[in-house]
Amino acid sequence: MKMKMKILFFHINSIFILKFISAQNNIKNECDIVNKLLNIQSNNCCLESGIVCSSDGHIIKLQLIIENYYASIPPEIGNITYLNFMYISGNGLIGHIPPEIGNLTNLNYLFIQGKHLSSVLPFELGNLSKLNEFYLYGNNLSNFIPSELGKLSNLELLNLLNNKLNGSIPVELGNLSNLKNLQLNKNNISDDIPSSIGNLSNLEYINLSNNTLTGPILPEFGKLTNLKSLYLSYNNLTGPIPPELGNLSKLETLSLSNNNLSGSIPKDIKKLKINLYTSNNPLLDTENSYTALIIILMVSISFAIILFSIIYLKIFRKNKKGGKNTYYNNHISTKQAYVNTFADDSMISGCEIP
Ligand SMILES: *[C@@H]1O[C@H](CO)[C@@H](O)[C@H](O)[C@H]1NC(C)=O
Ligand SMILES: *[C@@H]1O[C@H](CO)[C@@H](O)[C@H](O)[C@H]1NC(C)=O
Ligand SMILES: *[C@@H]1O[C@H](CO)[C@@H](O)[C@H](O)[C@H]1NC(C)=O
Ligand SMILES: *[C@@H]1O[C@H](CO)[C@@H](O)[C@H](O)[C@H]1NC(C)=O
Ligand SMILES: *[C@@H]1O[C@H](CO)[C@@H](O)[C@H](O)[C@H]1NC(C)=O
Ligand SMILES: *[C@@H]1O[C@H](CO)[C@@H](O)[C@H](O)[C@H]1NC(C)=O
Ligand SMILES: *[C@@H]1O[C@H](CO)[C@@H](O)[C@H](O)[C@H]1NC(C)=O
Ligand SMILES: *[C@@H]1O[C@H](CO)[C@@H](O)[C@H](O)[C@H]1NC(C)=O
Ligand SMILES: *[C@@H]1O[C@H](CO)[C@@H](O)[C@H](O)[C@H]1NC(C)=O
Ligand SMILES: *[C@@H]1O[C@H](CO)[C@@H](O)[C@H](O)[C@H]1NC(C)=O
Ligand SMILES: *[C@@H]1O[C@H](CO)[C@@H](O)[C@H](O)[C@H]1NC(C)=O
Ligand SMILES: *[C@@H]1O[C@H](CO)[C@@H](O)[C@H](O)[C@H]1NC(C)=O
Repeated sequence: MKMKMKILFFHINSIFILKFISAQNNIKNECDIVNKLLNIQSNNCCLESGIVCSSDGHIIKLQLIIENYYASIPPEIGNITYLNFMYISGNGLIGHIPPEIGNLTNLNYLFIQGKHLSSVLPFELGNLSKLNEFYLYGNNLSNFIPSELGKLSNLELLNLLNNKLNGSIPVELGNLSNLKNLQLNKNNISDDIPSSIGNLSNLEYINLSNNTLTGPILPEFGKLTNLKSLYLSYNNLTGPIPPELGNLSKLETLSLSNNNLSGSIPKDIKKLKINLYTSNNPLLDTENSYTALIIILMVSISFAIILFSIIYLKIFRKNKKGGKNTYYNNHISTKQAYVNTFADDSMISGCEIP
């Protein structure tokens, strides 16, 4: 009995020790990779700030700001497969974004930002199927947006603001059915906006400003009923503003300035209580046409009044012909005469009453 207990105890103990050793090995292997980013030598990087490890010895969270030294993201980072949160930023970040990050399939938050990074956007990132938030703004990223990003079915936020991305918006982005926030502003993205954008029914914020987009504003934007802001300013968009945008009852801001839009602003959009920006669209009739109508109306009314007073004056003068004031009135301009007639009237009435 005692013997059996001892063997059992030994077994439990050895499993625990083996687990501990394996955890130590995991930590050492993963720390070897992360040490390059930290610019340190540490066998247990889990003690460093910005690093969180699981009890079985895997790095699960990285939150690093690289300043005062230079480091690039090592390709082996793709081996830290338990990682679910990755935030790396700083002016010390150099090199490019390794495609191996696409192996980190447990990631649900990815943030990389460094103005000295220059890279393309690796298509392997389309494999990060658990990804929720994706920030790669201000990174000097060049070339096109890979269509594989359309596979990120859990994505709620995609922010690629302020890079040098070119080419067109991939049709496949229309598959991101959970997307709420899309920021592609300040790039060099060209061509027409794909109609599949109209399938992003959860979208609340979209900013495509400061690109070189062409073609029309699609009526499909009117299907995005959760939209709160739509920024399309500083592009080369042409054609009319679709009245379907008037269906966007949650819309707060619509920015269409600095394009080549034509036609007039649909009345359904004017009815919405939104911040509407439409300046610098040379061919677009803004509400100025309404103001112009009011001005024309007011000018006509003024003319009518002047005309009627001239006629009234003429008749009044005719009636007074031969009266005592005739000589006096001949030397007075019409305007003064108009005032004077009333003065005369009151004088007359004032004379008659007593
Ligand atoms: C990364 O993982 C692969 C496959 O598991 C392995 O062969 C390789 O040695 C690892 N590299 C590093 C630097 O840990
Ligand atoms: C990691 O990614 C690279 C490049 O994307 C790939 O060649 C490699 O096979 C991947 N490694 C593993 C272990 O999946
Ligand atoms: C951005 O990338 C280009 C090459 O694509 C490079 O010439 C330029 O120096 C980079 N800018 C910065 C700030 O690193
Ligand atoms: C990653 O994506 C590429 C193409 O997008 C695919 O060929 C590859 O098999 C994927 N890798 C994994 C591990 O899913
Ligand atoms: C995008 O930019 C790259 C260089 O950064 C260039 O080679 C490529 O032709 C450009 N593509 C388009 C569609 O303009
Ligand atoms: C993604 O979109 C493309 C084009 O819009 C479509 O052909 C494809 O079937 C879609 N993929 C998935 C997985 O829904
Ligand atoms: C944008 O792309 C056009 C060609 O499509 C190119 O001529 C222009 O230099 C690019 N602008 C920037 C800021 O990269
Ligand atoms: C939008 O989604 C519907 C169904 O979900 C699909 O039939 C249609 O092809 C999609 N449109 C585009 C332009 O991707
Ligand atoms: C949209 O992008 C433009 C240009 O980058 C910027 O001026 C504007 O503030 C952005 N709007 C929002 C709501 O972020
Ligand atoms: C957008 O682009 C225009 C012209 O290219 C520029 O004047 C303006 O400053 C840009 N706005 C932002 C926020 O970059
Ligand atoms: C945008 O439109 C302006 C004026 O219409 C034109 O000069 C410019 O070349 C266009 N740019 C692109 C990239 O199409
Ligand atoms: C959207 O607007 C268009 C034109 O303004 C209208 O014909 C259509 O019925 C509206 N659709 C919905 C779903 O409200």
